[in-house]
Amino acid sequence: MSELSVKHLLGIKYLKEKDIQLIFETADHFKEVINRSIKKVPSLRDITIANIFFENSTRTKLSFELAEKRLSADVINFSAGQSSVKKGETLIDTVNNILSMKVDMVVMRHPNPGAGIFLSKHVNASIVNAGDGAHEHPTQALLDSYSIRERLGDVAGKKVVIVGDILHSRVALSNIFALKLQGAKVKVCGPKTLMPKHIESLGVEVETNLRKALDWCDVANMLRIQNERLDISYFPTTREYTQQFGVNKALLDSLDKEVVIMHPGPINRGVEITSDVADSKQSIILGQVENGVAIRMAVIYLLASKIK
Ligand code: CP
Repeated sequence: MSELSVKHLLGIKYLKEKDIQLIFETADHFKEVINRSIKKVPSLRDITIANIFFENSTRTKLSFELAEKRLSADVINFSAGQSSVKKGETLIDTVNNILSMKVDMVVMRHPNPGAGIFLSKHVNASIVNAGDGAHEHPTQALLDSYSIRERLGDVAGKKVVIVGDILHSRVALSNIFALKLQGAKVKVCGPKTLMPKHIESLGVEVETNLRKALDWCDVANMLRIQNERLDISYFPTTREYTQQFGVNKALLDSLDKEVVIMHPGPINRGVEITSDVADSKQSIILGQVENGVAIRMAVIYLLASKIK
């Protein structure tokens, strides 16, 4: 397989396992490129990409921009807070105005679930979802699986627990789709109040005891509480949450194996993870960020090759 089965990257839900393998093989090549002294390739010299962000971001925004520049694409950046969205312009009008400047691809983060899907039906450009509300964050899940493959050799058969606010997490949903597609075994762990109803229908098991989840897994992906999406109180206090669902060095040292620790960022140090764990050799958190550039180069390169 030499091309993706999709024209847009809207969610992992729309990908096939072969798409993921193609993205990983392409990312392997780009990872080698970005570790050279000359980190740039001329592949996308004739492509213009708009990064439009309606929600805050550090990693994803910078990583996409760097990936685009490493591929020699022309890049424009748009932040809703400083735009005419504030004057009442609609999403479609905003994007069509950007596209009339001859833009080929739009990378969008938006607070509304399905915003990228909606846009793909109304504008003539390739759309990449950089996170849509509590729905999906496909490039995060791709870089997460790629990082597991790098550390453990393969994703198939590995036991992964996703810990934290599963209910409001687009990272959790995209990871579940990606890991299941590649044949990993997945558990989710967190307070019952932060567990979506019928989550088992996605082929995952629920575990509410963190110690048991860690005893079982090869990899623990620690998520932060999505405070910006909490409309009510889902647990008594942050301190209590940390006691039940936070990882610390003493807990990890008490296991009879070394669990790989992941986190998509941003980290709330001392809440879901202590600093000594986040900064330990067991943690691959900064490796995930590094791999994000190679994965996003691969996604953009493969989607650009489908633009007529
Ligand atoms: N992981 C992630 O999406 O981080 P940002 O919100 O900083 O982009």
